[in-house]
Amino acid sequence: MKAAISRKYGPPSSIVFEEIPTPTPKENEVLIAIKASTVNRTDSGFLTGLPKFARLLIGFPNPKYHILGCEYAGEIVALGSSITKFKLGDKVFGFGDAPFGGHATFRVAREDEAIAKIPSNLNFQQAAALAEGAHYALCDIRAANIKSNMDVMVYGAGGAIGSAAVQLLKAMDVKVTAVCGTHQKNKIAAYGLNQIIDYQQEDFTNCNQEFDLVFDAVGKSSFAVCKPLLKPNGIYISTELGPNNQNPFLALWHALTRKKGKRILFPIPTYNQEDINYLGNLAAQGKFMPLIDRTYPFAQLKEAYEYLLTGQKTGNVIIEMPF
Ligand SMILES: NC(=O)c1ccc[n+]([C@@H]2O[C@H](COP(=O)([O-])OP(=O)(O)OC[C@H]3O[C@@H](n4cnc5c(N)ncnc54)[C@H](OP(=O)(O)O)[C@@H]3O)[C@@H](O)[C@H]2O)c1
Repeated sequence: MKAAISRKYGPPSSIVFEEIPTPTPKENEVLIAIKASTVNRTDSGFLTGLPKFARLLIGFPNPKYHILGCEYAGEIVALGSSITKFKLGDKVFGFGDAPFGGHATFRVAREDEAIAKIPSNLNFQQAAALAEGAHYALCDIRAANIKSNMDVMVYGAGGAIGSAAVQLLKAMDVKVTAVCGTHQKNKIAAYGLNQIIDYQQEDFTNCNQEFDLVFDAVGKSSFAVCKPLLKPNGIYISTELGPNNQNPFLALWHALTRKKGKRILFPIPTYNQEDINYLGNLAAQGKFMPLIDRTYPFAQLKEAYEYLLTGQKTGNVIIEMPF
């Protein structure tokens, strides 16, 4: 099979395409012919190994995983002897960052891994982008214990995480205020939200409203800046460490001291097959559709990463595998 390999941390140019043996599924595994994948922030973090201290977790001195691509969609072409949930020809999508494996023409997955059948209203490209941004959003929404009719602000609503977050919240009947740039307003308005603030035209902190959760899905704000926007017991969550890497420490401090009132959480993202099924079911009901920015052929994977690393992507960048 053809695979994009990165044996050392580095820029996209360090990726090499190689022919390697196609894996044979073990008794509890399926073999998936990959039709589409994505490049995303999880992949680029593991590609570059930045920030450097993250290498203690993702492999030191060299990366633990050589084939990246945490999201994938494809067709099952071989089955292990004990498989009961899937059959040959099933179209499936999945997420995995331990291991990855979507940037190759085939990938094996355990039957109980985070894979699920693709809803019939989605093609491979759409299905490939169902899980990365959305599973971070889902973890954070659950950690904040958000319920219907609560008020949530999503800052960075045009990103992969942000665009998933606004849709997941809307599906829960939450009142959503989205903050995005001018060029994204029309796309985000299509989600039928309660309010949209254009951060390029106005200061989002000046909105005269308080929220149960301010979710910074692009990590450009801080707890201190957003605190005035929180209700008395409101929660702030950011997908980034914060301007001085303070978010995890502040969240730990607030948890240890059982802080009352406005506080910050820094949830550790998790995922399982149930979560992936949940996202697939929302998509099947027309309540969630990944926002797609661009599509690159597999042969242009490095260019796709270069685009991602500009920080200009909006939503998801798809990689189309050779059929
Ligand atoms: N460490 C990890 O493994 C990991 C994994 C996933 C995500 N993350 C972090 O989570 C964040 C979101 O990831 P993502 O994939 O959803 O990002 P993304 O799709 O690249 O988000 C891009 C969005 O950021 C918005 N944006 C850029 N600058 C902004 C600013 N100054 N104010 C408000 N919005 C701004 C843009 O909005 P407009 O187009 O509307 O301007 C764009 O839609 C990133 O910071 C990423 O590093 C980390």
